[in-house]
Amino acid sequence: MYKHLQERYAPRPPVNVGTLVKMKAEGEKIAAITAYDASFATMVDDAGVDVVLVGDSLGMVIQGHDTTVPVTLNDIIYHTRAVAKGLYRPFLIADMPFMTYASREQALENAVRLMQEGGAKMVKLEGGAGQVEIVEFLASHDIAVCAHLGLKPQSVHKVGGFRVQGREEQAAEQMLKDAQALEAAGADIVLLECIPAALGKHITEQLHVPVIGIGAGPDTDGQILVLYDVLDITSGRKPKFSKNFLAGRDSALEAIKAYTQAVKSKEYPGPEHCF
Ligand code: KIV
Repeated sequence: MYKHLQERYAPRPPVNVGTLVKMKAEGEKIAAITAYDASFATMVDDAGVDVVLVGDSLGMVIQGHDTTVPVTLNDIIYHTRAVAKGLYRPFLIADMPFMTYASREQALENAVRLMQEGGAKMVKLEGGAGQVEIVEFLASHDIAVCAHLGLKPQSVHKVGGFRVQGREEQAAEQMLKDAQALEAAGADIVLLECIPAALGKHITEQLHVPVIGIGAGPDTDGQILVLYDVLDITSGRKPKFSKNFLAGRDSALEAIKAYTQAVKSKEYPGPEHCF
């Protein structure tokens, strides 16, 4: 009982939204990674990761689909519940899958399920200006939200592939406006995927909330990678921003520790991982 009071005085108290804001203010990089089960959750916690995402990337790396579109809410709840069992310190975010937040009411109902049944502390949704109302509605119900901009894998069939976003001036300006609108609507974190490094830096400087990047350059407040890319388990063509941290190391734990340290020391991402 009163676990939160005991945790406050623990040597490594659990990460919360306030911790992440403080890290941004103090310039300490946020190390984030995906996980999909309790065993890896325990390992990424031991490795010192700050944030864990149960991403809908599980549709590709666990379920073997070509895209994240087939992933259901029940899939994410199942994996989030497993991950929550293995975590103590990292902050747990769960993805809202394709078409589970098409209206305010649907988004609220599903975010509540991710939190109550899965144990998520924050939900992540993909969106630009079109999601402002949804984010505002969730935030008005005290639900912590991460807004995902840039390459939005759930839109793959609409945009015609997994491509770098925000290369043209107008698209870059629009992305900044979207990020600011989502922040004003109550988003607590912004995640930027696959955008030019200069744009990642610019958006990070303009926002008050922490910005976590994947393929968004070295200047975002934190980095996230798919666990299976860090461990080089993913087959096929690798994204430019991914790095095999298992190379030259003899355990998954050492690889995840190396990733965490590389993010903290700003060694990762290097110029070869950026657009
Ligand atoms: O689904 C996922 O794992 C993600 C990350 C790639 C950020 O959204």
